[in-house]
Amino acid sequence: MNAIEAISAKSDGAREVLVVPKNQGLDEILVLVRDSGVGLDQSSVDEIFKPFVTSKPGGMGMGLAISASIVRAHGGRLWAVRMRTRAQLFSFLCRRAAR
Ligand SMILES: Nc1ncnc2c1ncn2[C@@H]1O[C@H](COP(=O)(O)OP(=O)(O)OP(=O)(O)O)[C@@H](O)[C@H]1O
Ligand SMILES: [Mg+2]
Repeated sequence: MNAIEAISAKSDGAREVLVVPKNQGLDEILVLVRDSGVGLDQSSVDEIFKPFVTSKPGGMGMGLAISASIVRAHGGRLWAVRMRTRAQLFSFLCRRAAR
């Protein structure tokens, strides 16, 4: 949703969202989500995972906080990387539940 919202906020240039799932051995999956949207504003990449941190007029600022806690509950982590361009990259790594 954030990637779609980020490219929708752009008036010109490419509007791309790339989702790459990668198998990391038998027990882990890594998912990369990259968009060519507006990029992060001045907030730090750690701040945006806190509840109620939002730059959107209609935003609640809960999406990343909830997503991160779901990923953590599956033994993984979710992080963001500020790209050199305005684009944004989010990744999460999850472990398969013990069998
Ligand atoms: N792909 C992105 N590109 C640029 N900024 C982003 C991106 N994803 C998140 N952000 C920044 O992080 C903030 C927090 O995102 P988060 O998803 O937690 O809340 P939100 O999208 O503002 O509201 P909602 O609760 O509806 O998800 C956003 O307001 C935005 O400033
Ligand atoms: Mg969101």
